[in-house]
Amino acid sequence: MKILILGVNGFIGSHITHRILNTTDWEVYGMDLGTSKVTEYLGHPRFHFSQGDITISREWIELHVKKCDVILPLVAIATPATYVKNPLRVFELDFEENLKVIRHCVKYKKRIVFPSTSEVYGMCPDDEFDEDKSPLVTGPIAMDRWIYSTSKQLLDRIIWAYGWQQNLRFTLFRPFNFMGPKLDSLHAAKEGSSRLVTQFIWNLINGEPLKLVDGGSQRRCFIDVDDAMNGLMMILENKDHKADGQIFNIGNPQNDYSVKEIAEKLRSIWADHPKRKELNVPLSQIEISSSGDFYGKGYQDVLTRTPSINKIQQTFGFKPTIGIDESLKKSLEHFLLEYATMGRDVDN
Ligand code: UGA
Repeated sequence: MKILILGVNGFIGSHITHRILNTTDWEVYGMDLGTSKVTEYLGHPRFHFSQGDITISREWIELHVKKCDVILPLVAIATPATYVKNPLRVFELDFEENLKVIRHCVKYKKRIVFPSTSEVYGMCPDDEFDEDKSPLVTGPIAMDRWIYSTSKQLLDRIIWAYGWQQNLRFTLFRPFNFMGPKLDSLHAAKEGSSRLVTQFIWNLINGEPLKLVDGGSQRRCFIDVDDAMNGLMMILENKDHKADGQIFNIGNPQNDYSVKEIAEKLRSIWADHPKRKELNVPLSQIEISSSGDFYGKGYQDVLTRTPSINKIQQTFGFKPTIGIDESLKKSLEHFLLEYATMGRDVDN
């Protein structure tokens, strides 16, 4: 099988490439702006990388949609700080550019496995978010945070309609706070534009305060990226075509923690870490920050976000097993290595 991965150098793109190259005989065709997360695969005989910008490399994309069997378009801005800072950029990249790829899939009759998002459920009041039953609840227009959620939601609806009106073969998957090595980068965290776990790790390594937005009682269910890749592989393999025309949440309802609990856990892992003593970093304090101060205007939070994973469990036997402590430790170790490289970059 030939798979086209747009945004192959991102968090999900790099991890799924690793899994595909190590456990299947599939050919991976990938495009991205850079190679930092896929350097180790560049010489692999089944990894065909092209450096480029999907907003410019239109002919390459059309040619490769035509050539491949499955299309996984992962290019998107997925950091809340950017939703409120540059909502138009989110619309242009996440919505407009992906719509073009979807239309190529329709034209060439290719299967698309599209990343929807847990964000589409927004402020849904359900205890567990169900792919086929839960309402999708977003906020007022002045709250720019929802541009990501609604862009993705409209793409979900467009793909769905292409499915029944024009026979597009598709699966939508909804990541629920995937976490682990390579989630964003320390460079992004340095600018304050990474997601929670990477942001806190950067703060700890630098002895900066961990900021709890609006008190940190908001909750997320975190899934380790290795568990998450098991789920995504099941969808890509598509045994007996059971993923066709379906939406699947991928998450771990067992790892349900508040932001404050994550801050406390990471802080105590770092407190005893030998590297902290080596770097001679003071132990960060935990502080409260208002969302207005932290993100600026246009931010509205999601207070609880728990996936129902019954559907992917019953369809493919998906069962996440990695606990939060193991996952946080793994992330910290990865970013300590990245930090050492950053240091070298500065020295050079
Ligand atoms: C994320 C992103 O929108 C998407 O990447 C993705 O689709 C989705 O979640 C997902 O992975 O399921 P969110 O969970 O709100 O949304 O993103 P984070 O930036 O990781 O923030 C999590 C929570 O921590 C938020 O309540 C935020 O306000 C809080 N936070 C973040 C802090 O309290 N302090 C920080 O330093 C950073």
